[in-house]
Amino acid sequence: MSEAVALLHDLTPTVEQLLERHLASAKEWFPHEVVPWSRGRDFDPERPWEPGDSDLTLSDEVRSALFVNLLTEDNLPYYFRTIETMFGRDGAWGEWNRRWTAEEGRHSIAIRDYLTVTRAIDPVELERARMAQVECGQVPEPETAADGIAYVALQELATRIAHHNTGKVMDDPAGYEVMKRVASDENRHYIFYRDLVSAALEIDPSTVVQAIDRQVRDFEMPGTGITDFEAHAKAIARAGIYDYGVHHDAILQPVVVRHWRLEQLEGLDAAGERARASVLKYIERVGKAARRLASRREPALAG
Ligand SMILES: [Fe+2]
Ligand SMILES: [Fe+2]
Repeated sequence: MSEAVALLHDLTPTVEQLLERHLASAKEWFPHEVVPWSRGRDFDPERPWEPGDSDLTLSDEVRSALFVNLLTEDNLPYYFRTIETMFGRDGAWGEWNRRWTAEEGRHSIAIRDYLTVTRAIDPVELERARMAQVECGQVPEPETAADGIAYVALQELATRIAHHNTGKVMDDPAGYEVMKRVASDENRHYIFYRDLVSAALEIDPSTVVQAIDRQVRDFEMPGTGITDFEAHAKAIARAGIYDYGVHHDAILQPVVVRHWRLEQLEGLDAAGERARASVLKYIERVGKAARRLASRREPALAG
């Protein structure tokens, strides 16, 4: 049995429990109930979109965040494929992936309906970007099962934070509600994977801590295949929706260091020890860089 297959096999009882907990805590919700339909009207194909068409006053940064958040959700077929390849179709692993996919599917429905009704972003640009992204099908493909669960735990939390922070800066209660509903799904996905990683750390700490080290150091949001992703990511950081500080203070420290108890792990072999030292050092560096950037930004904001 390969290492990856053995780990998945040993984690199966945990996946069964976590899936049961996930289903028991699920609250049904309907995208159509959170979309403010009365604010909508027909589109004239002859008239190109302009920002003034919307009843919202959004900065370009917030528009970037909405654009990237929605397109990231639109790439769901490829996330499904990656996870199915990694976890297989059978038993609780397959059941989890299908349930998760069904929940993820409503995120793009809710966000797109909201953006279309409120005319918050150019629907033609958005649809062209969706076509380009889904045709290219670029997604992170972690190499091992341990890498996979470490990546998705970080990514689900990052996505929750990005959606929730976007909702907060929109200045529209209906928009906040849409983003909050989506973020609360992401939170439940994150908790599932976070606890799966904790269980994996107990089974095979050295393998898993090496995977955590790789995934933390190489972490990228899943939207890298989006047209002009870099420019949008910079805009999103400028708006404080997702930047180094958020990444360090809301993900790396509380989850990787504290929740996964990296410093207290026992029974690591030499490679595991090296990985732990490497990831802790990396996290410290991210924290320092974040504080440096924040202190540079503050005087500028005050001025
Ligand atoms: Fe999602
Ligand atoms: Fe999710």
